[in-house]
Amino acid sequence: MSNFVFIGYMFSGKSTIGKALANELSYEFIDTDQVISEETDLTIAEIFEKKGEAYFRELETKTIKNLSKNLQNTILSTGGGLSVREENIKYLKEIGTIIYLKVSKETVLERLNKDIERPLLAEENPEDKIDKMLKVRSPIYEQVADFTIDTDNKSVERITNEIKTLLSLWR
Ligand code: S3P
Repeated sequence: MSNFVFIGYMFSGKSTIGKALANELSYEFIDTDQVISEETDLTIAEIFEKKGEAYFRELETKTIKNLSKNLQNTILSTGGGLSVREENIKYLKEIGTIIYLKVSKETVLERLNKDIERPLLAEENPEDKIDKMLKVRSPIYEQVADFTIDTDNKSVERITNEIKTLLSLWR
């Protein structure tokens, strides 16, 4: 298995860290939201708005199932809800080593800034919603992952270095 999969909540830095690491390791980088967007020709926000969340979740499952057969030397960043859906987990495990980027509610709030591309958090007071979602999802992320990395107050460089150290110790 030559792939790494990033899981974790919105704004945990999956894409940013994934791209940085892919660059350093000369791996390909793929983001499930980007694949879905390209295939539907819609933004994630538009899919939620026009087709609803359930439809989006089906697209996620179809996407991860397809990717599970086709990846090599790839870093895959996944949408924050993908890894908490039971039927997706076996595909994630087939793809490669799973790294959970952990982030606190405070950091998510700092980064959110009314980002329209996160339809689940597009409300007046997202704090409660983030709190509830993190409580439900965090234990699942922990359980699914091979490694967990705390990302609060750390630079991209520090996080990628931590991951590289972990992987070199582990291999
Ligand atoms: C979601 C996370 C988003 C995106 C969608 C739903 C979630 O991706 O898939 O808005 O349920 O946590 P990011 O985690 O990349 O923001």
